[in-house]
Amino acid sequence: MLSVDRDALRRYIERSVHDLPALPAVVAKVVEITESPDASSAALNQVISSDQALSAKVLRVVNSAYYGLSAQVSTTSHAIVILGMQQVRNLVLSMAAMSLVRSRSAAMGQMHVHFWRHAFGTAKGAERIAKLKRLPVSEIDRCFIGALLHDIGMLFLYSTFTDLYTRTLLDAKENNMPLHVAEEKFLGIDHTEVGRMLATAWKFPPEIRKLIGEHHEPQEGEFNGMRACIQAADYYANAAGFSPLNAPVPDMLPEVRSWLEFDEEDEAAMTEFIREKIREAEELFGLIV
Ligand SMILES: [Fe+2]
Ligand SMILES: [Fe+2]
Repeated sequence: MLSVDRDALRRYIERSVHDLPALPAVVAKVVEITESPDASSAALNQVISSDQALSAKVLRVVNSAYYGLSAQVSTTSHAIVILGMQQVRNLVLSMAAMSLVRSRSAAMGQMHVHFWRHAFGTAKGAERIAKLKRLPVSEIDRCFIGALLHDIGMLFLYSTFTDLYTRTLLDAKENNMPLHVAEEKFLGIDHTEVGRMLATAWKFPPEIRKLIGEHHEPQEGEFNGMRACIQAADYYANAAGFSPLNAPVPDMLPEVRSWLEFDEEDEAAMTEFIREKIREAEELFGLIV
């Protein structure tokens, strides 16, 4: 289908990841503070409030209908008390990652919203599965972040190489091939690897990089519960009708399915849960994207 040299293309894609602007220092600092075991909300507030644009955005989101607060929140320290440090961190990270992979047209903006529905639905689903499976709290948080950003490489590829990626997408659809397989075949690199490169360039914690980079990999050797939560939630977000580009999606890995032990009723409940969370967050997408 594509008459381009895969190796050259891969190198070109790699270079373009490196050419992306760095994650703003303030965001990197937010990640660093919240990752530390003795994270203090005062330190977090100091960093966020030092950046006017970021604080304004955080306050706008906190005061949106999504959180349904009865009184207006006017300071970031109050926002941190209400939402908790991890939630604020999640917000800051999602806003930052999105603003780096910008939409350049109305059609692209629309695609970003679709993309966010999938990302957010997967994040909520992964968080719920992690709780059901009683993962430690720190891992539940990582599941959320990892799931929120799992397909960020796809968004980057689509936004940066729109024509080429659209052709890859069409081919995946024609041959009923999962997108990551088609990407590897035509671009010489897939969105999991691109996502890992982005997360590395942005200095995300190693655990998150790994989750993004391995989200389509089978669970061989040691079983990774966090990855399984994301893999399962990804499947249910797609099943709920929220696949990012309407591309063919892979089935759930058998080892993840048997770990999950969901019966039909559980599956239907999870799909409905994801649908409901996406509906509730509809207003957020406009604020974040
Ligand atoms: Fe993916
Ligand atoms: Fe996905």
